[in-house]
Amino acid sequence: MQLWLCPLIAFLLGSIPFGLFIARMKGIDIRAHGSGNIGATNVLRVVGKQYGITCLILDALKGYLPVALAITLIRFTGQHNPMEIAPLLPLGVELPPERQWFAQLMQVLCGLLAILGHNYSPWVGFKGGKGIATSAGVLIALAPAAVVILILVWLALFLTTRYVSIASVGAAAVLPPLILFGSWFHGKLAAGTWNKPLLVFSIIIAALAIWKHRTNLKRLREGTEHRFTRKSKP
Ligand code: G3P
Repeated sequence: MQLWLCPLIAFLLGSIPFGLFIARMKGIDIRAHGSGNIGATNVLRVVGKQYGITCLILDALKGYLPVALAITLIRFTGQHNPMEIAPLLPLGVELPPERQWFAQLMQVLCGLLAILGHNYSPWVGFKGGKGIATSAGVLIALAPAAVVILILVWLALFLTTRYVSIASVGAAAVLPPLILFGSWFHGKLAAGTWNKPLLVFSIIIAALAIWKHRTNLKRLREGTEHRFTRKSKP
């Protein structure tokens, strides 16, 4: 298995429109209901809770698997030995910069292509989802500690506003400063050994997520955004 295949696999996996398939199993074209989005939120809203959760897990796996595959291949193809690659994960000792750079770049490239595959899936006319679940899957592989904090941010925003879009946009906006904070916390910022591709990647996917929520933001301004109330579905 060649490492260079991973970004391609990432895009193809990311492009699978699970939300569309899940809703179609129930005879529903998800694009014609609710927000029209093919993501887990809309599947949950329109089709039902268990379908939405299934979609969330599958969309997250599309992000997690290709990045985990790239990390595993880098570890075991002889380009780096397992002990050396460990520092590419959040904790551990450092690789020589040129080797670190390559591995970090491959990992974020896979993550980015999985998210782009989801957001701009060729199977649905390049009009895919908003990339939140897939980004979460990618980040579970790349920066699991950050995901824990992002989930807390997401939950705090959702529980106080009941708007999924506000929670998603808020969590996306927190991501780049959080990655920067993580580097500072581990002393990597001062040492100059912080994961630069990961920071650039976090800025790109945060911007992408906010951009993809522009119709939600418009609806929020107009007071017409779908809101999850405690007792009833929107
Ligand atoms: O992850 C997408 C979510 O933030 C918004 O979904 O269906 O309300 O546009 P939706």
